[in-house]
Amino acid sequence: MKILQGLAPGAVLTTFGVMVAGAYVKAVGEGAACPPGILCLESAAETVHRGLVGVLGLLVLAMFALALKNRRGDRRMFALCAGALALLFSQALLGQVTIAVHLHPVAVTAHQALALVLFALLLSIVFHARHAPAAGAGGA
Ligand code: HEM
Repeated sequence: MKILQGLAPGAVLTTFGVMVAGAYVKAVGEGAACPPGILCLESAAETVHRGLVGVLGLLVLAMFALALKNRRGDRRMFALCAGALALLFSQALLGQVTIAVHLHPVAVTAHQALALVLFALLLSIVFHARHAPAAGAGGA
């Protein structure tokens, strides 16, 4: 559980960075600067937004792998990390859709709302990693 205890706050902070970068993208009106996809070179703000999503993806994937390894020791942690991975994937997909529908207000609002849910879920993982009993943690 030690590694997860370190990774989870990192994921929360990275999500915060992604959200701030996304808000900046919106504020400077560069949401439609890049086509959907992974790479974005046309807008510095959107490059940071997507780059941080890449970092977050690696963090959440690592957390999921650790929780999977120790799923018998801590089923709740496994469920939380699986939820975070699914939410992150959906959010990345929604980011693509947001661009594809030309920043339709419903898509932008849903993207913002899902970001808040992801942030809250990752925060709950931080608390669970700290307070879950160490027994059966398997050193993850
Ligand atoms: C974990 C993943 C992500 C999170 C947490 C996230 C979060 C956010 C947030 C909070 C905003 C600001 C929304 C607002 O102020 O109303 C935003 C904006 C935006 N995001 Fe993301 N985002 C993620 C992934 C992506 C991806 C993968 C893409 C596209 C490839 C993307 C494209 C955009 C765009 C285009 C905007 C600007 C919308 C506008 O100009 O109205 N996002 N994002």
